[in-house]
Amino acid sequence: MAKKTIEDIDLKDKKVLVRVDFNVPLKDGVIGDDTRIKAALPTIQYVIDHDGKAILFSHLGRVKTEEDKAGKSLAPVAKRLGELLGKEVTFVPETRGAELEAAIANMKDGDVLVFENTRFEDVDGKKESKNDPELGKYWASLGDVFVNDAFGTAHRAHASNVGIASTGIPTVAGFLMEKEIKFIGEAVEDPKRPMIAILGGAKVSDKIGVIKNLIPKADKIMIGGGMTYTFYAAKGMKIGKSLVETDKIDLAKELIAEAGDKLVLPIDNVCAAEFSNDVPTETIEGEIEGDVMALDIGPASVALFAETLAGAKTVVWNGPMGVFEMSNFANGTIGVCEAIANLEGATTIIGGGDSAAAAEQLGFADKFTHISTGGGASLELLEGKTLPGLAAINDK
Ligand code: 3PG
Repeated sequence: MAKKTIEDIDLKDKKVLVRVDFNVPLKDGVIGDDTRIKAALPTIQYVIDHDGKAILFSHLGRVKTEEDKAGKSLAPVAKRLGELLGKEVTFVPETRGAELEAAIANMKDGDVLVFENTRFEDVDGKKESKNDPELGKYWASLGDVFVNDAFGTAHRAHASNVGIASTGIPTVAGFLMEKEIKFIGEAVEDPKRPMIAILGGAKVSDKIGVIKNLIPKADKIMIGGGMTYTFYAAKGMKIGKSLVETDKIDLAKELIAEAGDKLVLPIDNVCAAEFSNDVPTETIEGEIEGDVMALDIGPASVALFAETLAGAKTVVWNGPMGVFEMSNFANGTIGVCEAIANLEGATTIIGGGDSAAAAEQLGFADKFTHISTGGGASLELLEGKTLPGLAAINDK
């Protein structure tokens, strides 16, 4: 990586500020999924093993008012981290002030401390989210070096990542940041070929940037999910009452023309009269006639996608193929997930969000080379955008 990493600096006796992305699902104090906490462990353990003092911080959820703070404390996350590390983790229930400064002053080498949700600073003038320079300066003053391991937040320019880095404090990437950039960055910029992208999800508008960026880079781009039917409409095909973004039909036409035979659309779809799991379904080939909506790609499409995937050396998947939360419309996503998972000798990457959740839910997660911990961040990376959090890390 062209950026400095945690292995490029000396941590001994240093107060090491570590920005992590602990934005985990939390309900009534119970963590729904601790993947992001586990993903940060290599960096935290490295700081401990190299006699640094690990001062960790993250945002959790979105906080605009005092009331929004309820249920968004990082305390349960600090507790879970202690369990995973098998050591004591000090939690400081504030984002600045005497208690935090005293707790840091008391730290010994190898100690771990977590302070409160950085977005609690958003209540009074969005200081965190608007990258208030004083706040970045204050947080930077608490440490000697800054390790940014929050890939999931790298598409934000907030005080707790870009703000701290721009004070001039030595700023390096953690292992998670490094790994995410390596896998997603290489898949897009320097892939082993054939490189195939599978893009799903409801809306073309969410994926325009990714499709545009990948047309010149991928060997094939397969489309599934709700956005398929805007492409169908662009080809003049009937779509029944399937989801369509009428204002994106012209754009879909342009993308079809630009991509040529790289673009692979589903050839059959599982349809129903209502958006419901409790009504009969029918699989329709080609155009969708009648008063039904397509809610998943059909078995012939799954077979076509699997055939197209054969021999791929790099696969990037982002977005489900249908409404996979409903069992009647999950087979397209399951089939594609299985086809990717069974590829041999390919680097297979899931670009976060819903498709990562689908792979987890379907039990295929450990069959992929890399599952990104970032939803928005991985999408922006696939769009070819510069991530401000990454850009702010010192160059090698
Ligand atoms: C995420 O979950 O995508 C990141 O943690 C960023 O969160 P945000 O969308 O609230 O900035």
